Amino acid sequence: NYDKEIDQLMDRMTLAEKIGQMNQVSGKSNPTGVLKQYSSIEGRVREGKIGTVLNVTGAATTRELQRIAVEETRLGIPLIFALDVIHGYKTISPVPLAESCSWDMETIEASARMAAVEASAAGLQWTFAPMVDIARDPRWGRVMEGAGEDPYLGSHIARARVRGFQGDDLSAPNTILACAKHFAGYGASEGGRDYNTVDISDQRLRELYLPPFKAAADAGAATFMNSFNELSGVPATGNRFLVKQILRNEWGWDGVIVSDWGSVAEMIPHGIAEDKKQAALLAVKNECDIDMEGNCYPSSLEELVKEGKVSEKEIDRSVRRILRLKYELGLFDDPYRYCDEQREKEVTLSAAHREAARDMARKSIVLLENRKSVLPLGKPRSIAVVGPLADSPVDMLGEWRAKGDPKEVVTILRGIEKTAGAGTRVTHAKGCDVTGSDRSGFAEAVRAARSADVVIACLGESADMSGEGYCRSELGLPGVQQELLKELKKTGKPIVLLLSNGRPLTLAWEKENIETIVETWFLGTEAGNAVADVLFGKYNPSGKLVMSFPYNVGQIPVYYNHKHTGRPFEPNQRYVMHYIDAPVDALYPFGYGLSYTRFEYGEPTLSSDRMAAGDTITATVKVTNAGDYDGEEVVQLYIRDLKAQITRPVKELKGFRKIFLKKGESADVTFDITRAELEYVLADGSVVSDPGEFELFIGGSSAGLQPVRFSAL
Ligand code: IFM
Repeated sequence: NYDKEIDQLMDRMTLAEKIGQMNQVSGKSNPTGVLKQYSSIEGRVREGKIGTVLNVTGAATTRELQRIAVEETRLGIPLIFALDVIHGYKTISPVPLAESCSWDMETIEASARMAAVEASAAGLQWTFAPMVDIARDPRWGRVMEGAGEDPYLGSHIARARVRGFQGDDLSAPNTILACAKHFAGYGASEGGRDYNTVDISDQRLRELYLPPFKAAADAGAATFMNSFNELSGVPATGNRFLVKQILRNEWGWDGVIVSDWGSVAEMIPHGIAEDKKQAALLAVKNECDIDMEGNCYPSSLEELVKEGKVSEKEIDRSVRRILRLKYELGLFDDPYRYCDEQREKEVTLSAAHREAARDMARKSIVLLENRKSVLPLGKPRSIAVVGPLADSPVDMLGEWRAKGDPKEVVTILRGIEKTAGAGTRVTHAKGCDVTGSDRSGFAEAVRAARSADVVIACLGESADMSGEGYCRSELGLPGVQQELLKELKKTGKPIVLLLSNGRPLTLAWEKENIETIVETWFLGTEAGNAVADVLFGKYNPSGKLVMSFPYNVGQIPVYYNHKHTGRPFEPNQRYVMHYIDAPVDALYPFGYGLSYTRFEYGEPTLSSDRMAAGDTITATVKVTNAGDYDGEEVVQLYIRDLKAQITRPVKELKGFRKIFLKKGESADVTFDITRAELEYVLADGSVVSDPGEFELFIGGSSAGLQPVRFSAL
């Protein structure tokens, strides 16, 4: 476990060199030209003042900076290179929210692996992903980076992504370190405003927000990142309850914790540190091992040690963790093993990677409406592809697109043109911009629609409307896009509304008025090909939403696993939980998504309706593909605890299976239910389950399910 090597090395290190290991800086001062990427930090690397670097990439570039670290510093300790490789390095996969809608753990893992393969060939050893923050507020721009609103599904996806990035051998030159972020509660920022205050009960924290982090830790995530937000009045970077009590003590997780960008220093404006020195003190005492771009550790730690406020033991603890990672990555054996220009050329944007990205992309698409079976398209004589997102490469990549190159993107228009075939005329008109009020393009778009058999209206958000710092207070189609859609509707032509966006939108008018709606999110490099696969029926859509779509912004937060309350909703009643001007439930709920075929569910049967301690009961449901196409279905199991020590949600996801059925085929799908599925957590962290009555639901969405009862003894 490298203890001996680390001891020997640390014996030779000065305090300043140790603190250098705890300092992370960004090299991206000028992204043009190889050396320019890090010219601003080269001197400090040479002086041993930097241990890890972010935003310097490329095999040749990282090799040169690594050479300086290894050959020109006193001890030759190699650097770790990090980047936000969130959904691909150069071959860009769908944004994580989209991937999550596939409910396909193997493909999600493969997507993370592909990202690791490309990133590691370009000299990187560390990604700041997966983001495992549960989020119920689509105003928050960062929902695009996560796995949606459910902790059970979120935990499965967290595990898949960690496994994908890290594989089972950190020293393999094609795997990279994962980083579970942002610890914790970031998804609960008030009003959906990034960086805003978070104040949630300990019980909700443990039940909703922490499980994906625990899953990531259990899957071996090598690193964690502190979040920007405060929690119960204490910024996460200095929050002892979160880090010392839960992460380190309760979970026994001993990996490297990195601050978020400047989050150590941000304890000053948060108002709990008076200067960088005090911020460094709070952070280091809270076992934040690496200060990312905060310049608090380099400026203050040495003095804090000399004053006896921080012990050298506390510094050593962090340095030991960081050096261990460097050993585990194999960097001491060969510091250049990840800087492989040949491999970089071979794997980056390879045909196999593009094909994998296309597969992930079509599995991420959610069919929201297909009332008149306009889809799949068949062989129309003409198609009008209209809207600002029809031919917009950069928007297909979404935010956090690493080194994704718009020039490599297959746009929706291009994908349709390629797939439509010789007998179909494809016309294109932009109609309007994503934002703004310019309607001058409407006439051309309407003309194109009038002369076509079918209209594909490509509307939604631009890439820079969701992601960090991109929060919205209105979630309808931005600008004049809905007006354009209304004009298109007047033509009477069949319209397919093809949405590209990074969050749930408010689509009440669209649902009412447009018969075919396809949610494509931001699908990445192969977006157009994947969309065409679905439109023309080469792939039967199978995605299911992982985040509820609200009717309107006033309804937020709206999520499937809400509480029953003492006055649950009843129609036409006044003194019950409701709005007088909007429904209480979601427009499109968690778990919802259509297929070109129709799946019928039988009534679930139970092997027993009584569960004694230690028992397993098996729930079986017959699922039949009763439609006209082969297809995949995500069969979902939910459970409700009717009476417990604390109030429980009206239902909670406790299992899912993605199955494939040929048309006309049936399958019995089974779920084993044990005490573990009935457990919940109390505010102090204790996990309990109670005897009593439970309801079980199985279906293809979280809504509209009939319960079957059983009791636990
Ligand atoms: O990893 C990110 C984090 O999610 C938000 N702040 C910046 C970090 C590094 O780029």
